[in-house]
Amino acid sequence: MIGKRVVAAFNDQINHELYSSYLYLSMAAYFHSVNLDGFAGWMRVQAKEEDSHAMKFFEHLRDRGARVELDQIDKPKAAWKSPLDAFRGAYEHEKFITSKINGLYKLAEKESDYPAKVFLDWFVKEQVEEEATASGIVNMLERIKDSGNGLIMLDRELGKREFKA
Ligand code: FEO
Repeated sequence: MIGKRVVAAFNDQINHELYSSYLYLSMAAYFHSVNLDGFAGWMRVQAKEEDSHAMKFFEHLRDRGARVELDQIDKPKAAWKSPLDAFRGAYEHEKFITSKINGLYKLAEKESDYPAKVFLDWFVKEQVEEEATASGIVNMLERIKDSGNGLIMLDRELGKREFKA
């Protein structure tokens, strides 16, 4: 039996993941607007991944006979000063999501909800990867600074990313 508090917190997390998808889609639109289509492609894949994260929570609630209730998604930011500014934003956002996942894990422990804990294990590992990826790109952009060539090369590299379900 899944407790009310876990159901509410998982429903909240669906909202956080959908907001993440919306935020990265907004970053993709920004990158398209400055003709960095590789960066934009990377963000579009990231948006799809976030959508799949939301669906994992959706399915977990459904599998356990709990009610999914969707809430309003906040409007994401629409413009950034530079690619570095956008990726710093992405990194900060991933740290925020990690804090949310850790909070869910703590709650599952407190409520002795073992299925939720096992389910959340995947997200705990995923957040390590999410933060490492975003901070890695921030580091590259910090090194590139104002080099147009460096930016074009990174754009080409990031544009190779494909969505894996
Ligand atoms: Fe679903 Fe990027 O965390």
